[in-house]
Amino acid sequence: MVQEFLTGAREAGAEVENIFLVKKDIKHCLGTFNCWTRTPGECEIKDDMEELLPKFAGSDIVVFATPLYVDNVTGIMKHFMDRLIPIVSPYFEKVENGEYRHQKRYEKYPKMMVISNCGFPEQSHFQVLSLLFRRIARNLHSEVIAEIYRGGGEIFRERSLLLKPFIGRYKKLLRRAGREIVENLRLSEETMAKLEKPIIPPDQYIKGASKNWDKLLSKVGTSSKDEDEQADN
Ligand SMILES: Cc1cc2nc3c(=O)[nH]c(=O)nc-3n(C[C@H](O)[C@H](O)[C@H](O)COP(=O)(O)O)c2cc1C
Repeated sequence: MVQEFLTGAREAGAEVENIFLVKKDIKHCLGTFNCWTRTPGECEIKDDMEELLPKFAGSDIVVFATPLYVDNVTGIMKHFMDRLIPIVSPYFEKVENGEYRHQKRYEKYPKMMVISNCGFPEQSHFQVLSLLFRRIARNLHSEVIAEIYRGGGEIFRERSLLLKPFIGRYKKLLRRAGREIVENLRLSEETMAKLEKPIIPPDQYIKGASKNWDKLLSKVGTSSKDEDEQADN
């Protein structure tokens, strides 16, 4: 999903970088607040966040891409998100709705986008993610300009020729989304509506997924079906 989206963004003239957090050394936040006191704006932990933090702050748009893990971002992404707090100041400000947030440290903050996929077929599984990123954007003086969520994401692992045209159509949509974001900083209603539609009907997806689990389980020899068959024999 990310690769197709970024291809579209590149086609529209953006300079893009795809950073795999899993390949980076990102330790968890120690909660000392030294990034707000002793070394304002700088974390005391010496790891790859030294390189990533200025990149984050200097970007026009940051796309957070994560598979859905237990209704949330992955642990790796959460560590990254926690380590973003040096970019705001410890002092508070009241916003329009009466809530407080931390004041800015920098003049400009990147706009945010979210891309995610999950195993269950419905779009409703992204409710927590959607709210989470809206709240984070508010706290980090940003805004979420687009969210691309794909239920039934296990389909991307499929190599079946029958599914190829359906996946191909969705990939094309992702490239269009990438171009639209660079050109207009938003997705058109039409693209959003098309992206929300299931790639294949949910019941068909579940049938295929169950078959795949059957295959995988019998390969490793732990299928309950195998046991039933052995018992019958
Ligand atoms: C630890 C773990 C937790 C998961 N939790 C959820 C979940 O809460 N809801 C869901 O629909 N899928 C869940 N999944 C399935 C993944 O979101 C799904 O396999 C997704 O397609 C993985 O994306 P990727 O291939 O880009 O890594 C989970 C998978 C793992 C490994």
